[in-house]
Amino acid sequence: MGERGDGRAPIELRHIHKSFGGVRVLEDVSLRLSSGEVLGLLGDNGAGKSTLIKIITGVHRPDGGTILFDGKEVRGLNVDKARALGVEAVYQERALAEQLSLWRNIFMGRPITRPLGFLDVREMRRITSELMGESMGFTSAALTPETRVTGLSGGERQGLAIVRALHFEADIIILDEPTMGLSLKETDKLVHFVKGIRTAGKSSIFIDHNIFHVYSVADRIVVLDRGRIAGDFPTTRYSLEELTEIMREVAATGSFKPERHRATEAASEADGAEGAS
Ligand SMILES: Nc1ncnc2c1ncn2[C@@H]1O[C@H](COP(=O)(O)OP(=O)(O)O)[C@@H](O)[C@H]1O
Ligand SMILES: [Mg+2]
Repeated sequence: MGERGDGRAPIELRHIHKSFGGVRVLEDVSLRLSSGEVLGLLGDNGAGKSTLIKIITGVHRPDGGTILFDGKEVRGLNVDKARALGVEAVYQERALAEQLSLWRNIFMGRPITRPLGFLDVREMRRITSELMGESMGFTSAALTPETRVTGLSGGERQGLAIVRALHFEADIIILDEPTMGLSLKETDKLVHFVKGIRTAGKSSIFIDHNIFHVYSVADRIVVLDRGRIAGDFPTTRYSLEELTEIMREVAATGSFKPERHRATEAASEADGAEGAS
């Protein structure tokens, strides 16, 4: 259950199973994303994080289990349905068009046209400029709607992809290891954009294998270990130090025993530690 939000669950998974060629990749995974929440999904390489996301975005069909959107079961989910339900995944590998301008990237595949079918370039530039300033906090005069993506840093590219998703009314924005290949400074910028998702009243699943990247922005951290949910931790109740320790325990044993941590839990409640990266 989320610490934030209005109690609505835009997405809920119940008892999801998935195998590839007889190999179990996800086993009895249940997960609930609350409205207005940033959920950090953590796990080592191969834990099944991307597979889980691909089930939510309709790329893969689960072998068993139920998917609910806004409390209603959705059967036969596919990519188009998921998109229509407001899910937008910002994949690391889904590259932006390097040689094209920012406005062309934002409106790629979904251009604004005028009655006779001409592109409304002026309007697309205007909106791009607005999104860059207000949502992305780009203040540099060197960046205009005409700037090519080639000129952006990795963090700025992720920001552009997030803004594009927000502009097209995505309710749930999924980021699969967005910090991969980013410098520390760019990671900070990315975290700033993720905070923008919550400010916009939308929900997000932020996947990473490094807790330091997600702790400061996540309301809740769910740990996936070898295809199973190993724990669900509100960041208001667990300090970064404590969660780091828990992650270590999960990696070593595949599970987490809360009773081993009662003392530290009380301590973290008292100091309300904030994350540093
Ligand atoms: N399409 C696929 N076909 C076969 N095996 C796959 C496929 N996708 C993922 N896997 C396997 O499932 C496991 C989980 O992968 P993945 O979900 O990508 O993990 P993560 O994103 O946590 O690193 C891995 O062992 C991977 O090799
Ligand atoms: Mg992955």
